[in-house]
Amino acid sequence: MRTPLVVGNWKMHGTLAEARPLATAIRDGTKRVKGVDVAVCPPFTALAAVGEIVRESSVRLGAQDCHAEPSGAHTGEVSLPMLLELGCAFVIVGHSERRREIGESDAVINGKVHAVLAQGLTPILCVGETGEERRQGLTFTTVEGQLRAGLAGVTPDAITRIVLAYEPVWAIGTGVNATPGQASEVHGYLRGLVSELASKEAAQVIRILYGGSVKPENTGELMAAPDIDGALVGGASLNAQGFLQIVRKAAHAGARGD
Ligand code: 13P
Repeated sequence: MRTPLVVGNWKMHGTLAEARPLATAIRDGTKRVKGVDVAVCPPFTALAAVGEIVRESSVRLGAQDCHAEPSGAHTGEVSLPMLLELGCAFVIVGHSERRREIGESDAVINGKVHAVLAQGLTPILCVGETGEERRQGLTFTTVEGQLRAGLAGVTPDAITRIVLAYEPVWAIGTGVNATPGQASEVHGYLRGLVSELASKEAAQVIRILYGGSVKPENTGELMAAPDIDGALVGGASLNAQGFLQIVRKAAHAGARGD
């Protein structure tokens, strides 16, 4: 049985003045919610403050990216030992905004997956096709390529410690989410690949999150679909009450679904 996981990716939102009350409300609002894991990924500049607020609560801390090297001459980058020191448990790797805006390659992303695992943190590896790729019938080819490259050289054992996120690029920040059917068939496909790359057991335990215009209104039906084990939430994670509704609905669907 997979416990649902809901992760808020705050992206480039959250001055300290904004991040502190948001984190406090999420921490307080999740106190009595059972059957779901929750994490928030604020910008680097708010990690320490948010980490203090969620310390000793059930809310986990995550970073939105990292460098694969533990230290060195890499201006502007943030290393995994720095993230560990702040109490991070998760690191988002290979988000489509970084693939597109920064030009992160599959090889760079694979290096980060290895580095995150080596430090004992959990990578949230993102894959997803563009609208054009979907129109051309390349959805499965695209996500398969990203998954195989992202997991290259990762041992079957380590694969069980990874979280995957299917985030169709056309659904991110557009208000148009993938339907439960569209998401579910990709999640099922990814789970099949994990079975091939690692083992049947790994495929059973690995959590595959859906991301792309998740909001309180569509969470229930998405989370009830087969193979969807939680959500990676962007815009809707910036409103505490909305995010908490998503968390509760994911917990409810998880309890019902397994
Ligand atoms: P939105 O929820 O704003 O569509 O963003 C999804 C996302 O990219 C989360 O990583």
